[in-house]
Amino acid sequence: MISKRTIRDLTDAEVRGKRALVRVDFNVPLDDSVNVSDDTRIRAALPTIEALASRGARVVLLSHLGRPKGGKPEPKYSLAPVAKRLGELTSRPVRFVAALDSDDAVAATHELKDGEILLLENTRFNAGEEKNDDALAKALARLGDLYVNDAFGAAHRAHSSTAGVAKYLHPAVAGLLMEKELEYLGSALADPQRPFIAILGGAKISGKIDVIESLLPKVDGLLIGGAMANTFYKAMGLETGKSLVEPDRVDLAKSLLDRAGFRLTLPHDAMVAPSLEQAASAHAVKRDAVPPNEAMFDIGPDTMQSYARAIATAKTVVWNGPMGVFETPPFDAGTRAVARAMADATNKGATTIVGGGDSAAAVAEARLEARMSHVSTGGGASLEFLEGKPLPGVEALETRR
Ligand code: 3PG
Repeated sequence: MISKRTIRDLTDAEVRGKRALVRVDFNVPLDDSVNVSDDTRIRAALPTIEALASRGARVVLLSHLGRPKGGKPEPKYSLAPVAKRLGELTSRPVRFVAALDSDDAVAATHELKDGEILLLENTRFNAGEEKNDDALAKALARLGDLYVNDAFGAAHRAHSSTAGVAKYLHPAVAGLLMEKELEYLGSALADPQRPFIAILGGAKISGKIDVIESLLPKVDGLLIGGAMANTFYKAMGLETGKSLVEPDRVDLAKSLLDRAGFRLTLPHDAMVAPSLEQAASAHAVKRDAVPPNEAMFDIGPDTMQSYARAIATAKTVVWNGPMGVFETPPFDAGTRAVARAMADATNKGATTIVGGGDSAAAVAEARLEARMSHVSTGGGASLEFLEGKPLPGVEALETRR
């Protein structure tokens, strides 16, 4: 059970007829700014919206979309297409008002009937949002009678709509998606069933140092993939050819290797090619036989097998970051192999958790989402959580009494 109050802890009197101001993460990809091309995050928020609406709340939704420059409105980041998609996913009336903190927005919240839904315009169209501006937080608090944060994906941001508003609007509780995310990720870190294996990939070691440091003392095994393996190879004195290496992180990689001992595993072989454009000439080599004029773009077949064997023995698996350049076949094979091994481990009773972002996209691509215990909707947020950092959007909520 998470330490924060959730919408489940609210009494009927706290919900019925009340305006529930719900921060969701509807930061979804759009085709030509018109249609939602991946509605995963919208669907993930539906249980909270439905739970509140069915208890008679008037649901007022806030979200950001994209990164509009200078906190000014940019039509291509309007949430209007998201409102349309939400309306298709729920049988309840969904209204959209292109306002955020104005009197018009407040008036629209008062026009709602019990069980109806209103989506307001992109929170980042106001320059105060990303500064966690107090005046904006107060203005947002006028939009509801209670506050619910269900935006796990944005919980690592200390913004007016994710954190500041909770100072001025109570009750301030977690939604069901937020609760689920914190439960899965939290119990993996605090009380994992063992063996506990973590798999970390991605291009740069620099973005993953904190998570490696945080996970190393907790895991039984840490499997490394992606281009960040190259920096470790460099630290071991291996030839890395034309592979992406972070020269300023080689010493750090050395120190991590010294401290990690047998718990940290690097790929034994790799798929190499002269360049990404020459993917057709990809071939596997042992890690100590990388040709000087080629670069590593994926883990090799031996590594795929040994990582799959390690995953098969685990009772808890957490994965963040692709094993290779998965957008460019055949360099998607390593990432797919990890996804399949995790799906098989789930079948055998393991708890399998996929951090959001690229790894979640790869799992969706391989149509294996339903075969994971949990696929996080937060990329940066799940990484910061795994790094052991407090998430401002969670910290701001009321603690269970
Ligand atoms: C995400 O997509 O990771 C979240 O919606 C946060 O978006 P941001 O990185 O633009 O803050």
